[in-house]
Amino acid sequence: MLKEIEIINEQVATFTATCQQDIEKFRREFTGKNGVIQSFFDRFRELPPESRKSIGAPLNLLKQSALQKLQALQENLNKQTKPVAFDFTLPSRQFEVGSHHPISLVMEEVIGLFERIGFSVKDGPEMEDDWHNFTALNFPEDHPARDMQDTFFISREDKMVLRTHTSSIQVRTLETETPPLRFISPGRVYRCDSDATHSPVFHQIECMCIEKNVSFADLKDVLYYFVHAFFGKEVQIRFRPSYFPFTEPSAEMDIGWEVNGVFRWMEILGCGMVDPNVLRNCNIDADIYSGYAFGVGVERLAMLRYKIKDIRLFYENDLRFLGQFR
Ligand code: DAH
Repeated sequence: MLKEIEIINEQVATFTATCQQDIEKFRREFTGKNGVIQSFFDRFRELPPESRKSIGAPLNLLKQSALQKLQALQENLNKQTKPVAFDFTLPSRQFEVGSHHPISLVMEEVIGLFERIGFSVKDGPEMEDDWHNFTALNFPEDHPARDMQDTFFISREDKMVLRTHTSSIQVRTLETETPPLRFISPGRVYRCDSDATHSPVFHQIECMCIEKNVSFADLKDVLYYFVHAFFGKEVQIRFRPSYFPFTEPSAEMDIGWEVNGVFRWMEILGCGMVDPNVLRNCNIDADIYSGYAFGVGVERLAMLRYKIKDIRLFYENDLRFLGQFR
């Protein structure tokens, strides 16, 4: 019987399985109730005690290794990758189509409106120096007008700020280009301000025209064109006299809108005739050239256009809100 145990041991060791049926075969032949190992045990019980001694240990070892082999065969088979049945009739996965942010939509539209009447687009840095953000725009140092714009200062030594308005691009353009000039400058601006209609980061579009013989009537003409093209002819408009160091005279423009059934004015832009000091600071002959400029708040335009009462909705990145604009 020892010899037979040895042979079966060999068969167990070299058995291979490529499918579940092979494993069933192994169970049937070796470890099952009617398998060869059980038959060895049946015979073992019949043996006289003196022969049992030499057989017991190898027989138990055979049983152990056969059971381990069975487990190993099963684990191995489970690991093999099976081809996945693919149902070609299933509906395809839904892809979310993204949408443009309302601020981007408004910016693009306004840029388009001004390009149509011959304005180009100029850019400038968001980290700005004192000269371009304030001094060249006729805000002398320590002048109270600087308090109108709650500024984020970046460094005290070289007087860097996060630009408080896109008007800094007026200076950058006037310094490097020669009139006649007509351009707009959309961009992000920063002020230490936060409530339902103010955000520490917001967007403006600056507009500037420097030519010979430009008058306040030209400014109003362009503003009416812009407001009517953007809001429609029926919109209510109000001009208020105002003050900016870089324009003289200066004005602000408001748009009428209803909040919860109550009529209100919302300021959308500051404007005016460019102060000759600004032109001189940029080495432009103020006796020959004059011009107008304005800066419009993009969030304000978007709030009026889409009837949004709280500016913070633009920055919360709630897809339920953002998904409504196409
Ligand atoms: N920069 C001003 C602001 O941020 C807005 C402004 C007013 C821009 C008058 C202009 C202007 O170009 O002429 O409040």
